[in-house]
Amino acid sequence: MTTPWDAIFASMQWGRYPSEMVVREVMGFLPRLRIDQLEALDLGCGAGAHAALLAENGFQVVAVDSSAEALKQADATCFTRSVQVMVQLVRADYIAAWQHLHGKRYNVVLDWLSLTHAPPSKVVEVAKRTVEDHLAAPGRYILGVFGTQTDPAALEGRPPVVRWSDLDLADLGQSLSIAALGRGGSTTTRYHLEEQIYTRTGRRVQIWCLVIEND
Ligand SMILES: C[S@@+](CC[C@H](N)C(=O)[O-])C[C@H]1O[C@@H](n2cnc3c(N)ncnc32)[C@H](O)[C@@H]1O
Repeated sequence: MTTPWDAIFASMQWGRYPSEMVVREVMGFLPRLRIDQLEALDLGCGAGAHAALLAENGFQVVAVDSSAEALKQADATCFTRSVQVMVQLVRADYIAAWQHLHGKRYNVVLDWLSLTHAPPSKVVEVAKRTVEDHLAAPGRYILGVFGTQTDPAALEGRPPVVRWSDLDLADLGQSLSIAALGRGGSTTTRYHLEEQIYTRTGRRVQIWCLVIEND
């Protein structure tokens, strides 16, 4: 089955570079992990820039995407960066079907600009399930979604996007922190916003980074 992302990935090189926010969140967490705690899950991995970054820093990575074209690019990215052996690419729809992930827990769980394409109620449901079922302790869940000030024209060509306000984010953060606390231990929640101006088009893009951390 093809997805709207197949046409996008077939027509352009998309997401070749990791986001600075993801780099900061992963690299800032790394010193807190032992060598046997380097397990990562990348949901909606696209062309694999973040999966490769994680693998280059010692993580065993399970990278999930429903688009065959995206996974083709992710495979090429991992090959070029010599990390194929560290990255398991899984073709699956992680919103519709969850059984592929076998209830395993990961120290870093990343969902960068993938779930932001789902309606808010789905985002809450899937993000809660991800934190409850897949976030290890110590573990960091890193979610990237678009903010309300994002120029809709900057998102042209993508499947529909929901843009999130600070209040939406606060609510989402609270639901996720309750989900994480349900497992015991202690949890911190934070979120921050970054704005980028796409240099090619001059259009404004806002991205929220929400982090849920288990100790
Ligand atoms: C904007 S791209 C982001 C890719 C990557 N996370 C990055 O930051 O470069 C969104 C990706 O999420 C994937 N995706 C969207 N919904 C998905 C779903 N339900 N299951 C699996 N992958 C999904 C798409 O195929 C696409 O590769």
